[in-house]
Amino acid sequence: MKRLLLTLMMLVPVAASAAGGGHADLDEVDIDMGDTASLQRGAEIFVDYCASCHGAQYMRYQRIGEDLGMSPEDVKARLVRGDAKIGETMTNAAMTDDYARDAFGAVPPDLSLVARVRGADWLYTYLRSFYRDPDKALGVNNALFPDVSMPHVFWREQGIQEAVYKTEKGADGETHETLDHLELAEPGTLSPDEFDAMIRDLVNFMVYMGEPSQIQAHRLAPKVIGFLLIFLVIIFLLKREYWKDVKSGRA
Ligand code: HEC
Repeated sequence: MKRLLLTLMMLVPVAASAAGGGHADLDEVDIDMGDTASLQRGAEIFVDYCASCHGAQYMRYQRIGEDLGMSPEDVKARLVRGDAKIGETMTNAAMTDDYARDAFGAVPPDLSLVARVRGADWLYTYLRSFYRDPDKALGVNNALFPDVSMPHVFWREQGIQEAVYKTEKGADGETHETLDHLELAEPGTLSPDEFDAMIRDLVNFMVYMGEPSQIQAHRLAPKVIGFLLIFLVIIFLLKREYWKDVKSGRA
């Protein structure tokens, strides 16, 4: 019973975050903790594209494997890079903070909880919003996170986007150039749909990272609901049984 209550309590924040709509300017992403194949692909993308700069200090490879239905051999082959051990957390030993500050002007933050802080739609939009900007040190900017000091890690896959501006009259009566939308100037190795699917897998994994117990809650939910339905039937039968006695005056 205690476990059941705990599970129900775990489901509340999941339901709440699923219901909490997105920001108007953000592209919506369809997060699915039941899509194990997507989560596994997302974990691989994270390891190959993000973990060289960002850590995820609360995640152990082993735990990811258990949660995402991967055998230890699978985890070693698909997720563990270099000489890391399967029992270790995803900390990024390769880059020191000083080096990062030198190279990028900012330290890449730990990403374990970023999905909880920023939200899935924000991440999905951010990772697809890099565009060419020759004025920046890294040659790129981001429409959602202006002047970001993270490079565009998916330039091969997505290709190069360019900003299209519009002129607007501001409150001060002056006209300003503001960013209207991004346009794909040089196609990448993936089509836009394939690239979106790739980023969806990655964000799906990052949402899992932010709250790994969601996986358990997701798996238990049908059982909990089934249990409640059976319980309802029992209560109903019990009530009928009692009332029979009440009506016949034997209670
Ligand atoms: C080459 C290093 C590098 C790589 C690789 C990299 N990042 Fe970053 N990332 C950074 C830096 C540096 C910042 C800090 C940007 C700033 O504050 O201007 C950052 C910031 C971020 C932020 C914003 C965090 C916040 O809330 O402020 C997110 C989200 C993020 N990165 C996600 C990713 C993901 C996902 C990947 C893999 C696809 C990735 N990064 C790969 C260097 C990197």
